Amino acid sequence: MKILAIETSCDETAVSIILTEGVFPDISVRVLSNVVLSQTKLHVHYGGVFPSLAVREHGRNLVPVLQQALEDAGLLKPASPTSNYSLIRTNKRIVSVMEREAELQAQFLKFVPTIEKPNLDALAVTYGPGLEPALWVGINFAKALALAWDMPLMPINHMEGHVFTAFLNHAENQKTTTYNLKPAIFPALALLISGGHTELALMRDWFAYEIVGETKDDAAGEAFDKVARMLGLPYPGGPEIARLAARFRGTPSITLPRPMIDSGDFNFSFSGLKTAVLYKIKELGEISEDMKTEIAHEFQEAVAEVLALKTVAAAEHYGVKTILVAGGVSANQRIREELTRAINRRPPTADLLFAPKGLTGDNAFMIAVAAAARFARGASAPSPNTITAQGGARLDSLPAI
Ligand code: KG4
Ligand code: ZN
Repeated sequence: MKILAIETSCDETAVSIILTEGVFPDISVRVLSNVVLSQTKLHVHYGGVFPSLAVREHGRNLVPVLQQALEDAGLLKPASPTSNYSLIRTNKRIVSVMEREAELQAQFLKFVPTIEKPNLDALAVTYGPGLEPALWVGINFAKALALAWDMPLMPINHMEGHVFTAFLNHAENQKTTTYNLKPAIFPALALLISGGHTELALMRDWFAYEIVGETKDDAAGEAFDKVARMLGLPYPGGPEIARLAARFRGTPSITLPRPMIDSGDFNFSFSGLKTAVLYKIKELGEISEDMKTEIAHEFQEAVAEVLALKTVAAAEHYGVKTILVAGGVSANQRIREELTRAINRRPPTADLLFAPKGLTGDNAFMIAVAAAARFARGASAPSPNTITAQGGARLDSLPAI
């Protein structure tokens, strides 16, 4: 099966095409293209994602990103002179589905009728969680493509996309990038750490999620971004803090709190930690470069410790056999080390699976993989009319298959 997926939940405009084979869960996915156009440079002035700018940029970039993804996959062919694709231009349903996105609509009508319908079996799109107006741009674009090419469209939960990255096992092959789904042993626990989310999802089976812990305020990535801003570092702050923290040597002279460490549940809170950094900076007045390094280090240690401790506690409580770690923040090496250390400390250990390093941040490949898994499991795509953006979509309200 060939699947094309679209992701616009935050500040990355992404399209990916995969080729998937096998019988679920024994499936392989080959990356035919994985185009991610990041807007971070534009949002840098705002110290975070500026929603209306994200919407405008998705509208502006989706068609060029689609074109690139089709080209990379070898699926871009000019329409034959005898084709009737020009009818797309006057198809009222296609035209009206993008009426709120004038620039996208214009580019779509200029490009899509000029190319041959690509050899694809299905489309997939992120419906949430994320910035709702940004999600709508991707959804409307996907609906227009589904109409133009007469293909099924599978709505995918962004967090499920992150979950599936941790199940990917890289299969070595000289010419292609191919992954297999790792044979997962349930129950499993997924630690999902990104800019918008920090949650522990218990999986008793494929596609079945129960949120057993989540942040009460800021997400881990959000805390990284805000602390980076306090230290005068650019957005996104996670990689910046990690880089600075790696330079620290010795014993820190400051200590920051480990929030909710004794709360007796599996929830998180990072806003207090962020405030503690703010007070520390105010108390110190002028802060030297060395002190910045020290704060970055201590902040990262505090986040890593809390994440590891809570994850291990939940893993023990639910007797899980597999622990999955995914999302933008899971790129952090210290967090990976701390989780590995904490999990190996107490037998019986669970299998610890991290998302491949290049797939921790937002991308459409993970959306395609989740769709491939759903199709392979026998799910069918709903009517495109029923697909709506759900900014607050939760993993635990997904329909079981
Ligand atoms: O999953 P993601 O790309 O987007 C969302 O769905 O939110 O996550 C982005 C977040 C940002 O907050 C970014 O600062 C953080 O992931 N991040 C990191 C690292 N790389 C990205 N945080 C800590 N350490 C990193 N190395
Ligand atoms: Zn994400």
